[in-house]
Amino acid sequence: MTTSAYNPLLRGLPLLGDLPPLEGASVLVRVDFNVPLRPCRGESSEVTDDFRIRSALPTLNYLLEHGARVTACTHLGRPKGAPDPRWDMGPVRDRLAELAPQVQLLENLRFDAGETTNDPAFVEKLINGHDAYVNDAFGVCHRTHASVVGPPSQLPSAAGFLLEREIDALGGLLGSPKRPFVAVVGGAKVADKLGVLRALLDRVDTLVVGGGMAFTFLAAAGHDVGASLVDHARLDDCAALLASGKSIMLPSDIVALEEGAEYGCDCTGGETRTVGRDVPDGWTGLDIGPATVEAYAEVVAKAGTVLWNGPMGVFEDARFASGTTGVAMAMAECAGYTVVGGGDSAAAIDALGFEDRIDFISTGGGASLALLEHGDLPGLAALRGAANAPRAGASSTRHRSGR
Ligand code: 3PG
Ligand code: MG
Repeated sequence: MTTSAYNPLLRGLPLLGDLPPLEGASVLVRVDFNVPLRPCRGESSEVTDDFRIRSALPTLNYLLEHGARVTACTHLGRPKGAPDPRWDMGPVRDRLAELAPQVQLLENLRFDAGETTNDPAFVEKLINGHDAYVNDAFGVCHRTHASVVGPPSQLPSAAGFLLEREIDALGGLLGSPKRPFVAVVGGAKVADKLGVLRALLDRVDTLVVGGGMAFTFLAAAGHDVGASLVDHARLDDCAALLASGKSIMLPSDIVALEEGAEYGCDCTGGETRTVGRDVPDGWTGLDIGPATVEAYAEVVAKAGTVLWNGPMGVFEDARFASGTTGVAMAMAECAGYTVVGGGDSAAAIDALGFEDRIDFISTGGGASLALLEHGDLPGLAALRGAANAPRAGASSTRHRSGR
């Protein structure tokens, strides 16, 4: 699972050393500074986890050290194509100013509708005045958004160090990971993850399911889920996965909150209770229970390779954080090769101080899953199409050793 110049994903991908001379050049860098904020969002909020910002520093510093003027751009949250004070870039800009004061940061890309629609006019606006483009935004490489796929056809382009590292590590999971290979997948939305769950089931020995998405599986298996989150349109898909004969683990107990009580960031009040696989009427399941944590930890402990993506519960509410914390601990204790993807899972690892005990922490959530599902990403394909990309079959090695 080491860096390999022969990683097929790196073939034809332009790296930083493939850029024209940087001295005096203006470089546009797409980063993924979509970071968690507290209070959950808003003008006066602050960055609670700067992992994604710190992860881009090697590339930003490399460009600065080579004499470039550096302009970074990112999205934050999911504003709907117009300025939205909840996703003001202020807190991110403040943190970046502390870490890399010479780097300029553009306004939230998603304040312009042209970003998500990949409008050529928006691409033109973005690249205007720049001599080169660098993509170091692994977390958004699965999106065909203007800032991700547009500039490489217009400017000399390269993957940054962060992007290269991600491809190295995740490419290894596509090769021949050490077995047993276990994937622990959580998060709220099962619809977003069905494709990757199917793809993972072909690769892993055991698929472990937690988080809000577990309730659609439990409902599909005939359990009562009370007022828990269920995607009724996906019940058949989940039932089909459960009937596939592959090894899928679902929670055996649930931490639930009584009817009418609120949950989430800074919420308190209402009774919480650990119940079995059936959630009482009106109650909402918000975390996996202690028996489930134990069972999941045991599977993780025995794994040769583990991929964890997505929280096991509503962990921003301290009452429903134990499942996510428990899985984070199991990951830290696992002797196998451990990979964590997704902002929430990475934040849980960070909050526990376990960063050094995980083999690779991806800055991408959806992107890491999309890479495993499809074997490539639109952002990478766009870079391979840049005029300065190494010719097909060649693999750039010029900057692989110098960092
Ligand atoms: C992420 O946090 O997963 C990335 O920044 C992508 O964000 P998106 O899912 O809103 O495109
Ligand atoms: Mg390990």
